[in-house]
Amino acid sequence: MEMRQLGNTGVTVAELALGTMTFGREIDQAQSAEILGHYLDQGGNFVDTADVYSDGGSEEILGRIIGERRGDIVLATKCGLPFGGHPNDTGASRRHIEKSVVESLRRLRTDWIDLYQIHMSDPLTPAAETMAALDDLVRRGHVRYVGASNYAAWQIAKSLGVAALHGWQPFVSLQPEYSLVSRDVELELIPCCVDEGLAVLPWSPLGGGALTGKYRRGEDPPSGTRGQDNRNVRNRLDGRGMAVAETIVEIAQEVGQSPARVALNWVLHRPGVTSPIVGARTVDQLRDSLGASGWKLDVEHVARLDEVSTPHVGYPHNFHVFAGRRPPL
Ligand SMILES: NC(=O)c1ccc[n+]([C@@H]2O[C@H](COP(=O)([O-])OP(=O)(O)OC[C@H]3O[C@@H](n4cnc5c(N)ncnc54)[C@H](OP(=O)(O)O)[C@@H]3O)[C@@H](O)[C@H]2O)c1
Repeated sequence: MEMRQLGNTGVTVAELALGTMTFGREIDQAQSAEILGHYLDQGGNFVDTADVYSDGGSEEILGRIIGERRGDIVLATKCGLPFGGHPNDTGASRRHIEKSVVESLRRLRTDWIDLYQIHMSDPLTPAAETMAALDDLVRRGHVRYVGASNYAAWQIAKSLGVAALHGWQPFVSLQPEYSLVSRDVELELIPCCVDEGLAVLPWSPLGGGALTGKYRRGEDPPSGTRGQDNRNVRNRLDGRGMAVAETIVEIAQEVGQSPARVALNWVLHRPGVTSPIVGARTVDQLRDSLGASGWKLDVEHVARLDEVSTPHVGYPHNFHVFAGRRPPL
């Protein structure tokens, strides 16, 4: 698998990261071990989890199955979503971060986390409190680098500014939703990350499975898929989403690849993108998805995908495009 640099750090990561949100939810420990094993055997080294996935179950499974391969893996986890029943068991306060990191280290059975991400911006906690707490984790050796997920561009810029002012560790990455059915990140977040040198790690690059060709117009979701009981997957196929999914299937037939590979290949080569985080319920799905690496859609196919999926470009971005200060999406 091809490798990329993790933002402005000296760390090298696989261009496809493995997401483990399915571990302990759709799949058990044995199936999770098979998926992780296949990913690592194919040259992958970048694994993402979070405290909240399966209520700690994803981290616990990883802690039990990583074993001696820990040193080969760039391990990313997150805190900041509600996790526990008390009012302070959420957010990006120093209190919650300190508690969460200790619990994640215990579940993951490791001495260090390579990338510790705030799962979602916290409107209650001052940016300085969060960044100071994260800096302490790095200095203490619990964490190597810190990142953000589900932040607005101004919140990233502010957090970076506060960190720079005090000489604290900056965010080195952003984990946003990004796929052919979710391109809003291109308006502010991606330009912000490119400007500041942050790695971009797209989550749900297949729209949670919506872009794999299995959901058909006017038909119920196939049994055993996430779309059966997860409204987010079906919502991605509302309106224009289905036209996007159908274009992916057409192009997949034309280029002799699977729809999943076409959808992933598009994200993989978008400006600013470091490593899309792929999820999988089976080894066969992962085998298929990892085949998105090592080739590139041609310009004509990319243009068709760009066109069918173009997001609404509102003010001030439409003004910037009109004035020739940024290219159209
Ligand atoms: N930071 C955040 O807020 C956030 C949010 C969500 C996810 N994430 C991260 O991003 C990772 C990926 O998210 P995701 O699971 O939603 O990503 P995804 O890659 O868009 O969707 C994965 C799902 O698509 C289906 N699938 C995958 N490969 C396939 C293939 N080749 N052919 C057919 N179907 C295939 C499977 O579901 P079915 O078999 O059920 O169809 C699989 O569980 C997560 O594990 C997590 O690490 C982060």
